Amino acid sequence: MTRDNDRQMKAIILYDSRSSGGSTDRLIDSIGQQLAENGAYVEKARCKANADYSFIREFDVVIMGAPVYYMVVSSQLLGALLQSNLKRYLRHKNIALFLTCGSPEAMAQSVYMPQLKIHLMRNRILSEKIIAPHQIDDEDVIYDFVEEIEEGYRKSFKPRGGDLQWSDEALELIESAPPFFSDKIKAALVAYAEENGIRYITPEVLDDARASPKGM
Ligand SMILES: Cc1cc2nc3c(=O)[nH]c(=O)nc-3n(C[C@H](O)[C@H](O)[C@H](O)COP(=O)(O)O)c2cc1C
Repeated sequence: MTRDNDRQMKAIILYDSRSSGGSTDRLIDSIGQQLAENGAYVEKARCKANADYSFIREFDVVIMGAPVYYMVVSSQLLGALLQSNLKRYLRHKNIALFLTCGSPEAMAQSVYMPQLKIHLMRNRILSEKIIAPHQIDDEDVIYDFVEEIEEGYRKSFKPRGGDLQWSDEALELIESAPPFFSDKIKAALVAYAEENGIRYITPEVLDDARASPKGM
């Protein structure tokens, strides 16, 4: 049961690279380490164009990125966005983007980053970074990226009445019911949250409330 919005952030790093132990591998290890040191739960997964991405439901934040080869973002990540169910499971997720590439930042922002962002028009992008190979070991670059992700994540908790906060997923579930019912569900959840000292309502809280002896 989630009692407040200080709960541990769960982040998944989805990445691709043609190389093993190259700059992208080193970068994601540094990002993961920094996030973990700050208290987050972090996993990483190398993208495959046709994989099943339903597992990202478990995560609050999806950090995605890859190198650029011959002016195109590495193919398994682009392929996953084009062909798999990744985009569907990214809906309502907090996202952070990175690219590793050798081009000047302005070019990378205008030519490479849009190759990812065109698929993410409706997503909340917490942070995006272009990282050159010589910056991979720069602690300040990693620190800034992680800090922006954490700050954006904290801001994604939207206060809606008192200090009670609702995740987008919970609101979407509630608002998919006819207005009469969704108002009743909301009222019941507010009461349940107050009784149980909960300040952040997620789909799990909805399930807990339904399963509670009083129900909803
Ligand atoms: C074959 C190849 C092609 C590349 N093409 C580009 C490119 O078109 N634009 C660019 O900015 N960087 C390019 N780069 C630089 C890579 O994006 C950069 O070195 C990246 O950090 C490599 O990541 P990796 O070590 O995980 O493979 C290329 C590198 C290689 C090896």
